[in-house]
Amino acid sequence: MSEIRAADTGLPSRRPRRLLVDRHTRVTRLTHWINFLCVAVLLMSGLQIFNAHPALYWGKSGADTDRAAFEMGADDSGGGPPAGFARIGSSTFNTTGILGVSRNASGEVVRRGFPRWVTLPSWRDLALGRRWHFFFAWAFVANLLVYLAAGLATRHFWRDLFPSQEQLRPRALLKDLANHLRLKFPRGEASRGYNPLQKLTYLAVVFVLLPLMILTGLAMSPGMDAIVPWLVDLFGGRQSARTIHFIAAGLIVLFVFVHVAMVLLVGPLNELRAMITGRFAIFGEDDHG
Ligand code: HEM
Ligand code: HEM
Repeated sequence: MSEIRAADTGLPSRRPRRLLVDRHTRVTRLTHWINFLCVAVLLMSGLQIFNAHPALYWGKSGADTDRAAFEMGADDSGGGPPAGFARIGSSTFNTTGILGVSRNASGEVVRRGFPRWVTLPSWRDLALGRRWHFFFAWAFVANLLVYLAAGLATRHFWRDLFPSQEQLRPRALLKDLANHLRLKFPRGEASRGYNPLQKLTYLAVVFVLLPLMILTGLAMSPGMDAIVPWLVDLFGGRQSARTIHFIAAGLIVLFVFVHVAMVLLVGPLNELRAMITGRFAIFGEDDHG
C-alpha cells in the first residue's frame, strides 16, 4: 500500500500535485468484492430463513417453552386490516408496511417478517433460501481463507491493518475520533494508509465479526453438533447461537452503512478506483480537488 508509481506534475507548484500509489493488492481487491457479493446474498437469504419463524430466543430450546426476546408479527385485534409489529423485550413498535405486515409482488397485504425487497428469493420459499445460504456460506468461508492466507503471506496485516503504538495512544485515538465526527479526513501524505479507527474497525470485522458468523452458523448447522458438540455449548445452545448469528448480521449491516458513507464522504471515485484497479491518488497540500 505504499509504493509510489507515478508523479503527475506539470503545475507551477513545486510540490507534486498528485501521486498515484499502489493501495490494494490484487488479492485484497478480488476477495473484497467476492466478500461483498457473498455477504449480500447471505444476508438476504438469511432473512428469508428468519421469516419462517420470525422470533429469536436465548438458550437451548426456545420456540415452544420460552417467550421470544425479539419477534415480529401481525396483530388482528384492531378489527381492521392486520397491523405489523416488532417487539424487543417489553417494547412493541408498530411496523406496518415493513416488518410483520407488508405487500407482496401483486400489491396484496400479507403477513411476513421482513418485506420481500430484502429477502432472497423475494417470494416465500424457505428451501430455496436455505440452498442459497449454504452455497454462499462455503464461498464466503473459502474467500475469507484466501484473504487471510494472502494477508499473512504478504504481511498485509502488519503493514496496513495493525495500528502502530503511536496510533494506539489515547490522544491519537481521540483526535482521530474528533476528526471523524467533524468529517475531517486526512489529506496528502497522511491519507496514504488507513487511520487508526479505520484499522481497528477493519480488524474487528475481519477477525471478530466475520469469523463469528461462521462459528455461529456452524453451531446451528444440523449434524455439526455430532462433529463438534462443544461449539453449540460455547454459544449457550442452538437458540442463543441463532440470536448471536442474527445480531452479528445486524452489526455487519451497520458497518457497511458507515463504511459506504465514509467512502462517499472521503472521495468515492478515488476510493472505488483504488478498490477496483489498485491505484490511489494522494493529493498535495496545495490541491483540494
Ligand atoms: C458497496 C459496498 C462496499 C464498498 C463500496 C466498499 C468499499 C471499500 C473501499 C473503497 C475500501 C478501501 C478503503 C480505503 O482504501 O481507504 C474498502 C476496504 C475494506 N472493506 Fe469495503 N466496501 C463495501 C463492502 C464491504 C463489505 C460488505 C465488507 C465486509 C463485511 C467490507 C470490508 C472491508 C474491509 C475489511 C476493508 C479493508 C480491506 C483490507 O485492506 O484488507 N466492505 N471497502
Ligand atoms: C456475513 C455472513 C452471514 C450472514 C449476514 C448471515 C445471516 C443469516 C441470517 C439473518 C439468518 C437467519 C437466522 C435464523 O432465522 O435462523 C441465518 C441463518 C443461518 N445461517 Fe447465516 N449468515 C451468514 C453466514 C453464515 C455462514 C458462514 C454459515 C455457515 C457456516 C451460516 C449458517 C446459517 C445457518 C445454519 C442458519 C440457520 C438455517 C436454518 O435454520 O435453516 N450463515 N444467517
